[in-house]
Amino acid sequence: MDDELNALRRARMRWNTPLSEPHADLLLDRMGLAEGHLADLGCGWGELLLRAVERTPGLRGTGVDNDVTSLERGRAAVERRGLASRVELTEADAATWDGPAERAFCVGAAHAFGSTKAALDRLARVVPSGRLLYGDGFWAVPPSDAAAEILGPGLLTLPDLLDAVDDAGWRVLHLSTADQLEWDDFESTSRAGWEEWLAGHSADPRAGEVREWLDQRLREYVRDYRGVLGFTYLVLGR
Ligand SMILES: C[S@@+](CC[C@H](N)C(=O)[O-])C[C@H]1O[C@@H](n2cnc3c(N)ncnc32)[C@H](O)[C@@H]1O
Repeated sequence: MDDELNALRRARMRWNTPLSEPHADLLLDRMGLAEGHLADLGCGWGELLLRAVERTPGLRGTGVDNDVTSLERGRAAVERRGLASRVELTEADAATWDGPAERAFCVGAAHAFGSTKAALDRLARVVPSGRLLYGDGFWAVPPSDAAAEILGPGLLTLPDLLDAVDDAGWRVLHLSTADQLEWDDFESTSRAGWEEWLAGHSADPRAGEVREWLDQRLREYVRDYRGVLGFTYLVLGR
């Protein structure tokens, strides 16, 4: 897809994870944010990072992602919200970004490190002492073959994910999971940008491909992974 459609696809998403605003506020509360440095590895357009900095005097933020479209959206928000002196969004590989930072986010980006275990180990080096908000998918129930194929290898059950947390030397300070409304809203908003475009561009040469993607995403969600794929938010300390 071209740049215009790429930018539109996630335009209706607040952030790229199943998370309500009250749940996000709770997680930021549990992070015990204070002045210092917060790194967001795999930040997307950095909305959670920006909110953390906005509500915490003296906190500086660095967001790291390798998706230029997302970073451009984030940088525009940084400028618009007057945060340029406190937030930098950097195009880089999250897996090799060196801390240290007192606080970090890594939400939905474990794949950048290769696996959950590799992410938790590396993040322990980024945050030698402090707190990490770690968001990751898990199998809420055993997946069908179709769900396993769509979501790939590497997803753990929640107990196995907590064992990986323990092995990497983290303590669990908070655990919550995305509820069904957060999932349904995430999936719906992830489709909404293109649905709105399609409604006004049915004769566009790109319309067939867009419609096919939208239909497949909805079908796979409802048939294969709704209620099967979970997502957990852990505030971890060390
Ligand atoms: C599911 S999104 C989550 C984004 C963001 N944390 C949020 O909650 O909105 C995963 C992000 O990881 C980024 N990503 C994937 N591999 C990466 C890598 N090797 N280095 C940096 N970012 C990466 C993607 O570009 C994407 O923005």
